[in-house]
Amino acid sequence: PVTASVQERFAREIAKYPPEGKASAVIACLSILQQEHGWVSEESERVVAEALDMPVIAVHEVTTFYNMFNQEPVGRVKLNVCTNLPCQLRGGQHALEHLCATLGVEEGGTTADGAFTVQKSECLGACANAP
Ligand code: FES
Repeated sequence: PVTASVQERFAREIAKYPPEGKASAVIACLSILQQEHGWVSEESERVVAEALDMPVIAVHEVTTFYNMFNQEPVGRVKLNVCTNLPCQLRGGQHALEHLCATLGVEEGGTTADGAFTVQKSECLGACANAP
């Protein structure tokens, strides 16, 4: 069920665009549901699709394109280690493995206390500080 507060926030985002462009609010609406639930479930994608008159698959494409959208529950802190080429050349993979070993999780996993999730990521735009 969508709360009145979520509906209000959706309406504020949708109002920023002309009616024929309301799909432009997709990232904002997904973000709102992630703030509410901590992740974006298939049900959340359906809610956004309905609110924006979009096919569910189009919403899912957005969720899966941006790795800041969590497709499953994550820890309170999400640690992303870039393993793209510039970071790879500076030990990105090693940093990822070290972090996983230190926290005792598999890549993509969450520590037992729910504090940290470790993920491999695409370029974070911080190549100058690689990794
Ligand atoms: Fe790693 Fe850009 S390649 S932050």
